[in-house]
Amino acid sequence: MTKKAIILAGGAGSRLFPLTKIVCKQLLPVYDKPMICYPLATLMLGGLRDVMIISTPKDCPMLRDYLGDGSQFGIRIDYAEQAKPGGIAEAFLIGEKFIGKSGACLILGDNIFYGKLDFFRDALALKSGACVFAYQVRDPERYGVIEFGPDGRAISLEEKPKEPKTHFAVPGLYVYDDQVVDLCKTLKPSGRGELEITDLNLLYLKKNQLQVKGLSRGMAWLDTGTQTSLLEAGNYIATIEHRQGLKVACLEEIALRMRFISLAQLEKTIEQLPKGEYREYLRMVSEEGPATGPEPAG
Ligand code: G1P
Repeated sequence: MTKKAIILAGGAGSRLFPLTKIVCKQLLPVYDKPMICYPLATLMLGGLRDVMIISTPKDCPMLRDYLGDGSQFGIRIDYAEQAKPGGIAEAFLIGEKFIGKSGACLILGDNIFYGKLDFFRDALALKSGACVFAYQVRDPERYGVIEFGPDGRAISLEEKPKEPKTHFAVPGLYVYDDQVVDLCKTLKPSGRGELEITDLNLLYLKKNQLQVKGLSRGMAWLDTGTQTSLLEAGNYIATIEHRQGLKVACLEEIALRMRFISLAQLEKTIEQLPKGEYREYLRMVSEEGPATGPEPAG
């Protein structure tokens, strides 16, 4: 059964204040498009078409205004509110009905992945258990940190440890089987009063049902949680786009190339867009047609 997909776009964005005083964090620009496009692109490139966006009561309407019901991308987008910052794992309780018996994948609304996404497709193909990823970073104390045993299997997982055992951070992209909702129901809030995603992953680890796939150095995993990392992510995307003349995370292009929409649907969308660079780009995509060009990475 194809997994359901959740984008958790919560949080007050306090570290990005005053940028987030009015505008929802996940709608801030990462170079030429709002941040939320990048995680949504990752899900679409994984072949997922049933998406729930979970955000704060203040930000949900803005995200809905921006992305609508997803039909322009040939997908379905539902929206749900997280009333208070109850933790990442709470998303599975909020999305219980939406997930049903399908299992679920969750991506954080401020995480950007760029590169070959085979690791993600392989994880989605797993029949049972959970899968998380590991990525080497300079500052692991900002993240969930994973430690491997001599056989390469995960032996420990810690949330933002003061003294990290390794440099391997767990990115905000997680894949779970149909046990996820029931397991979340057994979680207790942490010291900061949240249902921690790391505690959920530890439950799978204890059951010996957690796979960890290392991401290669050739992959870019960027986060946008601080002013500096937001700027760096924007510069990274700008560099790639200028070099190739191709856009990263252009949702209409991905929808066409994944064959979620037809050429006629894309042309209808283009007609409704304001004149400008984005419209010109989509015009070029539509002239090329769905089959040409390499996979639109990231
Ligand atoms: C969250 C998770 C952490 C993970 C990180 C990825 O941290 O708690 O385990 O490594 O996302 O971005 P937070 O968003 O709370 O900083």
